[in-house]
Amino acid sequence: MLNVTPKPTDSSHKRLFLLNRSLHNSTDLALIEDLEAAWIEPLVEDLADRTPPLVGRAEWKERLDALLALEREGSAAGSFLAEKATREQFAHVVREFALDGLTEAQNFFPAIPRLPLRAQMAVMRVLIDEFGCGNLQQTHSKLYLDLLAELGLPQELESFLDTTSDETYAFLNVFYWLTQRAADVEYFLGALAYLEASIPDAFTVQARACARLGIVQGRYYTEHLHIDTFHMREMQTAIKEYEAARGLDATKLWVGAQLLSGLIGGAFDAAVARARELA
Ligand SMILES: [Fe+2]
Ligand SMILES: [Fe+2]
Repeated sequence: MLNVTPKPTDSSHKRLFLLNRSLHNSTDLALIEDLEAAWIEPLVEDLADRTPPLVGRAEWKERLDALLALEREGSAAGSFLAEKATREQFAHVVREFALDGLTEAQNFFPAIPRLPLRAQMAVMRVLIDEFGCGNLQQTHSKLYLDLLAELGLPQELESFLDTTSDETYAFLNVFYWLTQRAADVEYFLGALAYLEASIPDAFTVQARACARLGIVQGRYYTEHLHIDTFHMREMQTAIKEYEAARGLDATKLWVGAQLLSGLIGGAFDAAVARARELA
C-alpha cells in the first residue's frame, strides 16, 4: 500500500460526506469545493508530482499488476482480522465500513455522462451488478444489511454517522470528487479499476474471518470475491473504450489508483487498529 494520509480537520470529512449526499445550493457547493481544496487537491498534486509520466495503457496495467501483487502479500492488520479477531472486534470493523456498504456504488453514477458511450456500457454493467440487477436480495447494500443484522448492528445509515472515522470518511468522499469535480475522468477510471481488481484479494480477509467466527451472513464478502473478477475486466474494457474514443492520459489513471489504494488501505488499517484496542 502506498502512503497517502488524509488530512482531516476534526469532523470536516463527516461534514463533507453529509454535504456530498445532500441537494446542493450554490453555498453548499462552494463549501464542498473549499473542503476539497484543503484536502484532496493537495493529495492529488503531491501524487502527480511524485509520479513520472506513463507512456500508455500497457504501462498502467503493469503498474497496477505490481501494486496488486504487493497488496496480495497481505498485511499485519489483514492477518489479525482473518485469523485472530474476536466477533466483537470483527463487528467493529463491519460497523466502521457500514456507510460504505449502505451507500455502495451510489456515488459512481455521476461519472456516466462524462464517459464516451462504449465506456458507459462497461461501467453500467458493473453498476447493474452492484444494484443486484434490480433484485433487492442481491444488491450489495442489502447483503451488508444482512451482515449488520446478524451482528446486532443498526440498519439505518444515520446510526453510523457519529461512529465512522475520518479515515473512512475520506475514502467515501473521494468518489464524490472523482466523479463530479475532478477535471479529468481518468482519475475515476483508474481508481475504480484498481478497486474492483483489489477486492477479490482484499475481501478474502473478511470472508476468512466470517468462516472462522461462524458468521453466516458473510455473503457480502464472498459475492465480491466472485463478481469483482468480472468487474475488474469491465473496468479494463471501459478504459480501452475511453482510449479508443478520446485518447488516454495513463498517468492520471495511475494517480487515481494510488490515491484510492492509499485511502482505502489507511481506512482499513485504522479500523483494525481501533478494533484491536477493544481487547
Ligand atoms: Fe459491490
Ligand atoms: Fe464491484
